[in-house]
Amino acid sequence: MRILVIGSGGREHALAWKLAQSRHCTKLYAAPGNPGIAKVAQGVPIKPDDLKGLVEFAQKEKVDLTLVGPEKPLIDGLVDRFRKAGLRVFGPNQKAAQVEGSKAWSKAVMTHFAVPTAEYHTFQRLADALRYIENHEEPLVVKASGIAAGKGVFVCRNQQEARRAVETIMTQKAFGEAGDTVVIEERLTGEEASILALVDNSTIYSLESSQDHKAVFDGDQGPNTGGMGAYSPAPVVTERLQAKIDREILVPMVHGMKTEGAPYSGLLYAGVMVTPGGPKVLEFNARFGDPEAQPLLVRLKSDLVEALEATIDNRLDRVTLEWDPRPAVCVVMASGGYPDAYEKGKEITGLEKADAMEGVVVFHAGTREEDGKLYTDGGRVLGVTAIGRDITEARDRAYEAVRAIHFHRAHWRTDIGAKAIRRLGGT
Ligand code: AMP
Ligand code: GLY
Repeated sequence: MRILVIGSGGREHALAWKLAQSRHCTKLYAAPGNPGIAKVAQGVPIKPDDLKGLVEFAQKEKVDLTLVGPEKPLIDGLVDRFRKAGLRVFGPNQKAAQVEGSKAWSKAVMTHFAVPTAEYHTFQRLADALRYIENHEEPLVVKASGIAAGKGVFVCRNQQEARRAVETIMTQKAFGEAGDTVVIEERLTGEEASILALVDNSTIYSLESSQDHKAVFDGDQGPNTGGMGAYSPAPVVTERLQAKIDREILVPMVHGMKTEGAPYSGLLYAGVMVTPGGPKVLEFNARFGDPEAQPLLVRLKSDLVEALEATIDNRLDRVTLEWDPRPAVCVVMASGGYPDAYEKGKEITGLEKADAMEGVVVFHAGTREEDGKLYTDGGRVLGVTAIGRDITEARDRAYEAVRAIHFHRAHWRTDIGAKAIRRLGGT
């Protein structure tokens, strides 16, 4: 099979790395890919938002299967266009991708179908949003309804922060039209987990659990990022809790979307807060999580192509995925300053040494190659991922590899996996 992966981040490197190992894969392309992906796939200089260019490429190269990494092409209708052109593609169509593309829509479906989530209100006018904040002293979370690269969410400690967040979104229009509608919701407390599930017409198949680390600094301090590290499995998600999440969150949501005329097919990601009152949804995403995909895919033993094909063909009921029982940890190395302004173009060294360490795979995100040298080219630069006999060993291996890699002003969190290790009684 000739396969195309769309995207250029750590998630797409992990997906390409896994697809390249499939016995069904005869040729792998990545649009546009990155220097890490280029080791396993042929890079194609087409941007993920060039939907027309992607359709034309897939037709010309007779691509048998396309896998979309990031949300934007899904929300913009890539799947609809591919299908119309007779091309096979994994992922939700434009209508179903609203589950991520419009938080207002997603929350309305959740509420209608009794999916547990934070209480919320939506606003289109600044004055109304400000009045609501005036009348609510409890901590609030303010969100741009549309997509904002993981940066449109403000977890506020007080009314002043909430006011400032609304003004950033609605007055300064920091996220453009993604902020035309604002969602203000109650702030939930607890531990977060990421639940990724394959969904077809009649079956929901949850993958192993994982946990992201959204805040930029240790101890979950500082602004939210796209994700600074992840591990799988997440011990907070016990078997019992997973069953509850399947039953109370995934089943009613997938049913609800179908009832709303937006049936889901592809990978559905539920960001969940495990609160004292049970699991509640923070958000849904229409694609694999990044960095969660990195530790997850190094643990997946089954053929990814077969799982994607089964999802497209509504055969998920006949699929069983095999997982490596050993945990995996991914530590993101970022450019100093991220998620705010940062510099690019810093030379990266030590990667080969890190990659050769036992149990370690280094996934590329924002990197660029020139004259055989590697340079930083984005906020999140590398996803240093390791598997180990327990989470402590996986973490230690990942950090040993991190210490072998160097670039100017590299930043990483030093506490990835700490919550899991504490929960399991280690240090
Ligand atoms: P979202 O993109 O909606 O998942 O939000 C990004 C992050 O903001 C989440 O992973 C949480 O860390 C945090 N967050 C979002 N909504 C809430 C909420 N209602 N209560 C507490 N934290 C939240
Ligand atoms: N790691 C969070 C996300 O992929 O949205």
